[in-house]
Amino acid sequence: MSVITTHREGEVLVVVSDNPPVNALGAAVRDGLVAAMKEAAGDDGVKAVVIRCDGRTFFAGADITEFGNPNPNPNAVDLNTVINTIEASAKPVVAAIHGTALGGGLEVALGCHYRVAVPSAKLGLPEVKLGLIPGAGGTQRLPRVVGVEAALPMVTSGDPIPAKLGATIGLIDEIVGEDSLEADAVAFARSVIGMESHPVSSARADKIAGTDPGAFDAFRQANARRLRGFDAPEAAIKAVEIATSHPFSEGLPMERALFEPLLAGTQSAALRHLFFAERAANKIDDIPKDTPILPIAKVGVIGAGTMGGGITMNFLSAGIPVTMVEREQAPLDRGVATIRKNYENTAAKGRIKPEQVEQAMGLLTPSLNLEDLADCDLVIEAVFELMEIKKDVFGKLDAICKPGAILATNTSYLDVNEIAASTSRPEAVLGLHFFSPANVMRMLEVVRGAKTGASALATSMKLAKTIGKVAVVAGVCHGFIGNRILAARQTQGEAMLMEGILPARVDKVLTDFGFPMGPFQMADLAGLDIGWTKETSDPTRVRDVLVERDRRGQKTGAGFYDYAADRTRTESEEVNALILEFADKAGTRRNDVTDEEILERLLYPMINEAGLILEEGIAQRASDIDVMYVHGYGWPSYTGGPMFWASTTGLGKVVAGLEKHADKWPDLKISTLLKDKAAKGEGFA
Ligand code: 3HC
Ligand code: NAI
Repeated sequence: MSVITTHREGEVLVVVSDNPPVNALGAAVRDGLVAAMKEAAGDDGVKAVVIRCDGRTFFAGADITEFGNPNPNPNAVDLNTVINTIEASAKPVVAAIHGTALGGGLEVALGCHYRVAVPSAKLGLPEVKLGLIPGAGGTQRLPRVVGVEAALPMVTSGDPIPAKLGATIGLIDEIVGEDSLEADAVAFARSVIGMESHPVSSARADKIAGTDPGAFDAFRQANARRLRGFDAPEAAIKAVEIATSHPFSEGLPMERALFEPLLAGTQSAALRHLFFAERAANKIDDIPKDTPILPIAKVGVIGAGTMGGGITMNFLSAGIPVTMVEREQAPLDRGVATIRKNYENTAAKGRIKPEQVEQAMGLLTPSLNLEDLADCDLVIEAVFELMEIKKDVFGKLDAICKPGAILATNTSYLDVNEIAASTSRPEAVLGLHFFSPANVMRMLEVVRGAKTGASALATSMKLAKTIGKVAVVAGVCHGFIGNRILAARQTQGEAMLMEGILPARVDKVLTDFGFPMGPFQMADLAGLDIGWTKETSDPTRVRDVLVERDRRGQKTGAGFYDYAADRTRTESEEVNALILEFADKAGTRRNDVTDEEILERLLYPMINEAGLILEEGIAQRASDIDVMYVHGYGWPSYTGGPMFWASTTGLGKVVAGLEKHADKWPDLKISTLLKDKAAKGEGFA
């Protein structure tokens, strides 16, 4: 059966695409659309055309699996031909949009003379998220339809906009009934039959006439921080600039000329890798597809501190009621107040409506009583990182919670199996390791204990999607996937201090690589006193000495750096002098360290640790580690994450680097998997 079918509603030819799951514009769809337009042109009884899609969405873009494919259906028509054919139709064509009109999908819609959409529809050009720009006229038609001011954020952020906003900026001609898309689109098509002419996006000049040529540089400047390191957004800005200064016939090939090198480049390969990696991460290989998903209608959170509060917000924002339990009134009140303040700040920035603050707060029940968690479907523990307290809490939960409830711990490092063993239902216990700030960071590490049941796991993966997180499954070990790999980097960072390499230099090497912050900036943010006690404080360790001087990080206004009241960071003369003194005293100070060495010593041990993690089966697949590092630790996405980056760098080079610096990590065990792959000239992808 063809993926494109047509049927008649009187004088209107309705063209329907049915190419699950997302109506990607693969070769068969493109060929079918051109054939349908020929049918319309050749039939005098047809006076107008409606294009719509079956299933969950309008065309969600070009078929990404065709990119980078050396032989992508050489005989199929290309997308530009499809869109030009639609636009050249003498009979008006109406795009009838539901779900998401994305990338090539929105470009098809822009080629139509009119666009109608249901209220829940979203419209966007997400190509930059794949390291690309629209390649089928999107950068040339969109500004002509909505103007430069509305087009620039769409093409550079890739974020979709809701249909209503689309109507406001002129992208959508009419919002139609949520449940009557085809009928309303046909009625709209009928209403334009007989009009003298129909709007042709590529021929419009009204919205771009008089564009301020300075608007592009102003936009670049205003967004410099957000776009740093990425190639595609700059190309997208250039393409929109071209739309305002060149006729469409010249702009279209110029857009293509910007698109092609991006498609062939490593940034796009890396970002496309991440697109599929994120989707793969949600799948657990040894769990049957029909595993029952438990309904999560009510959640309990224990601990209203840094993490408990953030975790709670995820569920409140998703409309799921939460009971948050503390041991004393004061921290409970503080936790509730922080949640309210966070929502109010978001509302003040206009990102949510004031009534949504009250809606979310209305779903929160603060409590001092664990018994109040009896009817929760899921309880997440976020109390102090101490095994004895966690075991005590889980033992109590076991007695209180209803049968079938999932019992989760947010522990950063502790043994989930030991925690599970303090209950009579280890199959219900797992780790749900959120990242700080838990209401913002998209990463969720799902820690699978030895006895964790399939249902608890499958439910957690589904739930992650509900609350907008990207989930990765990890096995049990100290620090799981994320923190275990990070520890390898932190160890080297601290070793560098003993060579007299200052924090600002180390951090700069990593921020130049593309991380939002380096190891010492990160340590200051998290607090230097994590895990520190007076009794165990080590006077030969710079970090411990800083805590002893009450330099505990940003929270005390001083850590590796000094912080002003507004958190502006400056290098600390005191700390730098201390570091040099330590290095001199130990006789380990060096003056010959290059930035390259710093980078290799920080990143290669992470790759090695990841190799060990894969060997041990702690991670399901290398791409899961990429997803975790990009979403949880700020690894620059345009390098594809650590494993993709190592593979493009060459695993042989990584192993040689580990061996070259072997004296810097005396206990290092080089991963056999890494060595084998390097020897065979393979990568992790
Ligand atoms: N091509 C190929 N496969 C695609 C695809 C695409 N454009 N979009 C989604 N898929 C696949 C996914 O890989 C996934 O496959 P799987 O089930 O085997 O894992 C399946 O469709 C379902 O996708 P999601 O799990 O993401 O489903 P959601 O309902 O959560 O999201 C969506 C749907 C919002 C459409 C989301 O899939 C999405 O954002 N897709 C990508 C859209 C995009 O980037 N389009 C631009 C493409 S580039 C382009 O058009 C270039 C042009 O300018 C020439
Ligand atoms: P926190 O100290 O900010 O909050 C812990 C809260 O738990 C406190 O408010 C405390 O009063 C409460 N509490 C302690 N014992 C309790 C009990 N028996 N019953 C009820 N409440 C109790 O700590 P934070 O940072 O929120 O950490 C919590 C957990 O999350 C730890 O296991 C930590 O390792 C983990 N984690 C922390 C991250 C971070 O960046 N802070 C990141 C990821 C995980």
